[in-house]
Amino acid sequence: MKISVIGAGYVGLVTGACLASMGNEVSLVEVDMRKVESINNNIFSIYEEGLPELMKGTDIVATTDYNVINGAGIIFICTGTPSNPDGSMSLEQIKQAAGEIGDLLRTRGDYCVVAVKSTVVPGTTDEVVIPILERSGKKAGRDFGVCMSPEFLREGRAVYDFMHPARVIIGEFDRRSGDTLLPLYEQFKAPILRTDIKTAEMIKLASNTFLANKISFINEIGNICKRMGIDVFEVAKGMALDERIGNKFLNAGVGFGGSCLPKDLRALIARATEYGYNPGILKEVLHLNDKQALIPVDLLKKHIPLNGATVGLLGLAFKPGTDDIRDSRAILVAGALLKEGASILAYDPMAANNFKNIFPEIKYSSIEDVMKSDAVVILTEWEEFSALDYRGKIVIDGRRINKAREARIYEGVCW
Ligand code: UDX
Repeated sequence: MKISVIGAGYVGLVTGACLASMGNEVSLVEVDMRKVESINNNIFSIYEEGLPELMKGTDIVATTDYNVINGAGIIFICTGTPSNPDGSMSLEQIKQAAGEIGDLLRTRGDYCVVAVKSTVVPGTTDEVVIPILERSGKKAGRDFGVCMSPEFLREGRAVYDFMHPARVIIGEFDRRSGDTLLPLYEQFKAPILRTDIKTAEMIKLASNTFLANKISFINEIGNICKRMGIDVFEVAKGMALDERIGNKFLNAGVGFGGSCLPKDLRALIARATEYGYNPGILKEVLHLNDKQALIPVDLLKKHIPLNGATVGLLGLAFKPGTDDIRDSRAILVAGALLKEGASILAYDPMAANNFKNIFPEIKYSSIEDVMKSDAVVILTEWEEFSALDYRGKIVIDGRRINKAREARIYEGVCW
């Protein structure tokens, strides 16, 4: 199958590389010339396990030229949908992509399917993407097909997740649109659910906000447990024995970050509000998550005066295995510490350079120097933090590194 992927971010690159490795002929369209050049030189601005190796084995070519999508049977839109200041999703990149595709549809005689993979709020494909495509004079359903097929990729594990999906969701404009997409996914041993487009969009947002909900829930239980001298990790273990609850996403800590969970929550809150509904649970999940990130700062104050102190931050990435700091809890912690008059020494094996762009005033140093700080806060569970010598230190742990319990003073955020 000839496939074009628009947008070479996490989702676009991984989708393109995986589909190519499955024997499809894939072209990648990206507006950023520098990104295109580095992709063609097999250099990636993001860290994703297995991606460079996978790309090397394919003949994908990235280009800024939309004309390559002529002849593609399926065109995936994988452009970014960053948050607007009011929490809603910015649709500028999707609109631009749809406009460019529409221009090419105008002169195209054969049938193709435009499939949205970008995370969007319910209604976006029907209300925004299809009308832009139809400006070409061509009609959805008659001249071209439309699908919305969300991805559930975890950063750092995206290639694995693409090739081993827990489920495939195909939101289809009509049967023919879905039938065109189906062969791409049939080789996966995963249930395939075909829905209408709006439902597929909501499945993605509801899934991510549910995961966020699970984390804030266990953090709330943890906050109660800490006050009562109960270990929330033991509680979670006991809860997880009930298969209705499950054992995933019950790690209490400083909360969730990343490019998806916080953004998707904000977007669903904004969308619900547009429809006159006040999504109380979703708002509280987000609110609790932001409060949770500041607990380490309050705990530190119990043990040392922050004004003039040097605080070491262990971990800046929003989770281990990535250099991504988007919505990382470390951003909130660093901001609060600086406000209190503390100096910061920070270490992260991958994300220090990205953090430097936001906090140039912080000193980025070796793990050994960070350990010499007046107190240390653990914010990402990098494996190497389990091999450090914490004896004699003051440690506030946001990610449950058991080795750190040997510290002279040890406190977990909610244990
Ligand atoms: C998430 C979803 O898991 C994925 O399906 C979706 O497509 C994109 O968003 P990702 O953002 O890569 O993936 O990270 P994830 O592994 O879900 O972790 C998100 C955040 O939650 C991290 O900051 C992590 O530290 C935190 N987390 C996760 C917890 O605090 N506790 C947990 O139990 C699990």
